[in-house]
Amino acid sequence: MEKKIRKAMFAGSFDPITNGHLDIICRSSKIFDELQIGVLYNPNKSGMFNFEERAELIEKCTSHLDNIKVVSFNGLLVNYCEENGIDTLVRGIRSGADVEYELQMAHMNKELNPNIETIILPTATKYSFISSSLIKEVLNFDANIKNLVPKVVLEELKRKANRGN
Ligand code: PNS
Repeated sequence: MEKKIRKAMFAGSFDPITNGHLDIICRSSKIFDELQIGVLYNPNKSGMFNFEERAELIEKCTSHLDNIKVVSFNGLLVNYCEENGIDTLVRGIRSGADVEYELQMAHMNKELNPNIETIILPTATKYSFISSSLIKEVLNFDANIKNLVPKVVLEELKRKANRGN
């Protein structure tokens, strides 16, 4: 019998990708044959980077992994997954504070498509306080964030901060 290729999706806003996201990506890429990273619109968040910039940064940070595909699309996440043979959604949680939000999304996605499962990975403890929003906030005060984001992201954040956009 032919072996089924296990495809998973790690979707998020990634504005921009942080070391916490990268931790989840590296670990999930070992569990699945193919991991797609979906750069998606979250109506509750305003953006600093456009979608092309976010995707490009993710591609640069994950170039050492050979089973990653970065995508961006409009519409429901579960519909894209169904159409592309993906049956697992990966999400990371940093602390108990994330659990409620993640459970709500997992249940909604399950309601929308019962064939798609969500698995939740705890982010490594050393990254458990990192969020893209906090990174952008402290950057405004010229804080040192070099341990929190990949090098290419740090350079791009500094470039944007100096340009004033
Ligand atoms: O990194 P985020 O902002 O927590 O990720 C949330 C995201 C982008 C995964 C979510 O808003 C999403 O899936 N958007 C695509 C549209 C969709 O399917 N919404 C229903 C989510 S239950």
